[in-house]
Amino acid sequence: MKSQIEQLKIEKNAVILAHYYAPAEVQEIADFVGDSFYLAKVVRQSNADIIVFCGVQFMGESAKVLNPDKKVLMPDLTADCPMAHMVASGIIEEMRQRYDDLAVVCYINSTAELKCKSDVCVTSSNAVKIVRALPNKNIFFIPDHNLGSFVAKRVPEKNIILNDGCCPIHAKITAVQVLAEKEKHPKAEVLTHPECNADVIELSDYIGSTADIIAYAKKSETKEFIICTEDGVDYKLITDNPNKRFYYPNPHPCCADMKLNTLESVLSVLQKEDKEVIVDDDVRKGALKPLDKMLELGI
Ligand code: 13P
Ligand code: SF4
Repeated sequence: MKSQIEQLKIEKNAVILAHYYAPAEVQEIADFVGDSFYLAKVVRQSNADIIVFCGVQFMGESAKVLNPDKKVLMPDLTADCPMAHMVASGIIEEMRQRYDDLAVVCYINSTAELKCKSDVCVTSSNAVKIVRALPNKNIFFIPDHNLGSFVAKRVPEKNIILNDGCCPIHAKITAVQVLAEKEKHPKAEVLTHPECNADVIELSDYIGSTADIIAYAKKSETKEFIICTEDGVDYKLITDNPNKRFYYPNPHPCCADMKLNTLESVLSVLQKEDKEVIVDDDVRKGALKPLDKMLELGI
């Protein structure tokens, strides 16, 4: 199957992008693997005719918005991020009326429609930097409550208004689960994604995006780590560090939507070119502004 995928990629001038949460065998055949910010930058610069995005809907949508002339395909168009929809209807307009100088900061894990109503997008790897750089005092941070409060602690000079959304996978990781792993592995460092709850973040030695966690584990002198994020990162962690040990909260955090990206579905979409991401023209233009602003401020 892998050789068929390779051949079709060459024949069709296609490129495969995968998030670190995609299954290991998909990361293995991908041309680019990374966190959301890295993949957005790769998409923007891509010269391929076809981009196969192994992620979830908001990633495929953002790829189409950032590079509209390309055919963007997803192995499974139903792979979605529940958090991307977690903003109550009318609340953005209500906040804009309440605060004169409001900036709506939108985590990239959001629908293109929500991006259209926002001033700037962020990812977990650049949110602190971008919020700090904004001239506005009042910030409405959507949709992730946990990433929003993580940013608020690090940028105390801003009034950050939080929204009630979360990643159901990261929110299920509890401090009790992390403490149980720490008891079993007392020398391990705890590396955590900022989508986790505040009590898990407080127990952590390092907090960062998936790419940041992977980079930290590589350069750390420590040999054991407790990883508080989706377990797809394990593939890269083990590949980079065969002599280090990685443990996860029990049960392992696993995003079922990300796991819909299988080798079979990648091959099928390359053969049939049938699962194309379509974004309405007006929505595309509206969502491009905050994404472009992120690329401008987040580098
Ligand atoms: P990053 O890619 O920024 O690490 O975010 C993780 C995530 O949940 C993507 O859905
Ligand atoms: Fe969404 Fe969470 Fe899955 Fe990431 S891990 S895609 S935030 S549900």
